[in-house]
Amino acid sequence: MSIVSGDGATVTDVLGSVYIDAMASLWYANVGHGRSEIADAVADQMKQIAGFHTFSTFTNPVADALADNVAALSPYEQPRVFFCSSGSEAVDTAMKMARVAQAQAGHPERTVVISRERGYHGVTYGGTSASGILVNQAAFGPFLGDVVNVDPDDMSKMEAVLAERSGEVAAVITEPVQGAGGVYPPQDGYLAGLRDLCDRYGAYLIFDEVITGFGRLGTWFASQRYGVTPDLTTFAKAVTSGYQPLGGVVVGDSIRELYEGDPDFFFRHGFTYSGHPSACAAGLANIAIMEREGLVERVPMIERKFKDGLGTLHDRGLVSEVRGDGAMWAVQLPTGVSEATVFASMLASGVIARSLPSTITFCPPLVITEDQIDTSIGALASALES
Ligand SMILES: Cc1ncc(COP(=O)(O)O)c(C=O)c1O
Repeated sequence: MSIVSGDGATVTDVLGSVYIDAMASLWYANVGHGRSEIADAVADQMKQIAGFHTFSTFTNPVADALADNVAALSPYEQPRVFFCSSGSEAVDTAMKMARVAQAQAGHPERTVVISRERGYHGVTYGGTSASGILVNQAAFGPFLGDVVNVDPDDMSKMEAVLAERSGEVAAVITEPVQGAGGVYPPQDGYLAGLRDLCDRYGAYLIFDEVITGFGRLGTWFASQRYGVTPDLTTFAKAVTSGYQPLGGVVVGDSIRELYEGDPDFFFRHGFTYSGHPSACAAGLANIAIMEREGLVERVPMIERKFKDGLGTLHDRGLVSEVRGDGAMWAVQLPTGVSEATVFASMLASGVIARSLPSTITFCPPLVITEDQIDTSIGALASALES
């Protein structure tokens, strides 16, 4: 299917059929489609200067302004923001940052990164090595050394690995809500428990907020919703709502102080397009729209509609489980029901969801209307009934 245009929470294909985009494209179009304001901001920037690198002494006003903006929205007091162009680059950067910070702190032997089963962290070798979705690793090995994948929920198993590799662990990386693995919100107290374990075992905590960053859970970052502050936060996707490729890492106070405390420290890492002005212009315009239209404040409505609507399908026995928080939801399909068939049936009724193994997910633009949510859930219900 070839998509040619979009407006709000809908997209149109080449044949003129209109669909509700109940996945915000691929978990990212938080402000919805067709925002000429962002297109204009990018075009204006490109006419001034489309691109210029941010190596050695160089920076640009748009990257500086976006870094300030992201820093102010983040859970940290005095963070620093590193820019790249994708979530995968952000994850690899954060993994490197954690190892380098351990070395700066006098622990170069701390190189192990622990991730959780079901986790998705992108497709470069760092993120693939940390993947908890094993099918994504098939035939790509050997992987980055010292990356360990553990049970996603059982805190005692996490602690066992930290204890066994005590003194070797650089960081634990996790999505606050696991997304591509099937939308698994954290169990009560899980993230706080992880924070505590990391503190006790001297490991940094990395939140991969590539999906959850920029409003998805009703706060700018998921760390604010769950009241747990990691040492490093990755972001991408909704920082521009996908209008330009952009990602990054917010470096929290603990690691920033380590880096900046050493006048000789140099983080020998950066991408050609780090701080790309045209991408950063999209980020600034996107955040301005989110703030002006109060899109983060719409999330409780979206959460209630999905929770209730999908809950009704569960009560009727049409789905075996409902999972979600904020504006990220999933249903587990009963045994024998094909996710591909459900996806196709929903598409035929004008709704784009996402199918994962035995699962259908929703992650709509934050501009989605109550009616569009009802229609999306109705399409799922009809697919399951038939
Ligand atoms: C949590 C998480 N981390 C990293 C990535 C990788 O981002 P990208 O596809 O922009 O490289 C994704 C992409 O879906 C993601 O969901």
